[in-house]
Amino acid sequence: MAQGTLEIVFPRRSEKCSVFFGENLIDKLPLEAFSGLSYLVIVSDDVVSKLYAQKLRDRLSQATKTCLIVMQHGERSKNLLTVSKIVKKMSDLGLDRKSAVLALGGGVVGDTSGFVASIFKRGIKYFQFPTTLLAQVDSSIGGKCGIDTEWGKNQIGTFCQPAGIFITASVLDTLPKSEIVNGLGEIVKTSIISDRTMFNEIESSPEDYFTIRKLKTLIRRTCEIKLSVVEKDELETNFRRILNYGHTIGHAIEASSDYKLSHGKSVILGMICEGWIANKLRIFDDGDYDRQLKLLSNIKDHYGIKILLNRRKILSFAMLDKKITGATIRMSLPKEIGKMYSSKDGEFAVPVSKEMLVRSLDCLK
Ligand SMILES: NC(=O)c1ccc[n+]([C@@H]2O[C@H](COP(=O)([O-])OP(=O)(O)OC[C@H]3O[C@@H](n4cnc5c(N)ncnc54)[C@H](O)[C@@H]3O)[C@@H](O)[C@H]2O)c1
Repeated sequence: MAQGTLEIVFPRRSEKCSVFFGENLIDKLPLEAFSGLSYLVIVSDDVVSKLYAQKLRDRLSQATKTCLIVMQHGERSKNLLTVSKIVKKMSDLGLDRKSAVLALGGGVVGDTSGFVASIFKRGIKYFQFPTTLLAQVDSSIGGKCGIDTEWGKNQIGTFCQPAGIFITASVLDTLPKSEIVNGLGEIVKTSIISDRTMFNEIESSPEDYFTIRKLKTLIRRTCEIKLSVVEKDELETNFRRILNYGHTIGHAIEASSDYKLSHGKSVILGMICEGWIANKLRIFDDGDYDRQLKLLSNIKDHYGIKILLNRRKILSFAMLDKKITGATIRMSLPKEIGKMYSSKDGEFAVPVSKEMLVRSLDCLK
């Protein structure tokens, strides 16, 4: 993975975000990023904390006072009960507005911690130390902090940019193989929405890209693309929607499986269905559609991704999608590999009928 730092200033609130890339970053953490803090609360889950929390605290205690709050791992913990437990602990510690939160873990810890930081004392600084491939290439970037409710995924949330993101491929060595596919899905998505050369590279030797060693080489490029999209449209008024390719149906599949099918696997299935819709609507070029289908089917088969198709449930969860206006489902769809479709008035969301959505699920049979 390429070393170095990227600095982005998000125009909306002039929030600066520094993204640090490097090998063994825990030992080399730039301590100046934490200057001026009264306290740093490290939030982690029960799996990741055992692996990395002590080492990280040892390093960070050279910069500020720290404490560790551990939540249960897994999607089921990303809820308001966990948020309120963390906020209560922070209040019990008497923390002030100069304290900050650092998320050490995957997307579940990252989203929960970001949400906590955005509401504690009306908002304090936070940092991301992502430890899954998915969190490194996707969830730690962009400032979306969503929490699940019993009626759907990420139904409550805030936009809150982290002050710093620390990305080190070294922590991926302990990541279970089953987690790789989650990040792989987002990497492939990024290539389809914005980088044809990257897609060609993955397509030319797909077997290689099932290994973490190879995927590590794409982390920085994927981050850069996501950052540049978010910088242009932080609040997702239009352009940022391109990042949601595969997610309208993907999220609905994930929720309909009661979160048994992971986010990344669901997004791979979502792209298969949404790609089919784009092709049927004559938006997505035939040749590129076939190439995308071949690659995604290869990934699907390699990881044995299967679902119990419950069309009614999937449709009702899709109707909760945040891009819906009135009763119309809207999806961001590709025009060709490396480029997303926009309508004549520049909209990156295409109306899709419920019937079409349901028919697209036949691609997964
Ligand atoms: N905010 C966003 O923009 C955004 C984008 C995409 C996904 N998400 C969210 O991210 C979440 C999924 O994140 P995820 O895929 O990282 O899952 P996760 O956070 O549940 O982590 C997966 C599992 O891997 C373990 N783990 C994490 N790092 C490890 C390591 N280095 N070594 C060993 N085990 C490790 C965790 O304990 C957990 O059991 C979902 O809630 C999704 O909604 C958010």
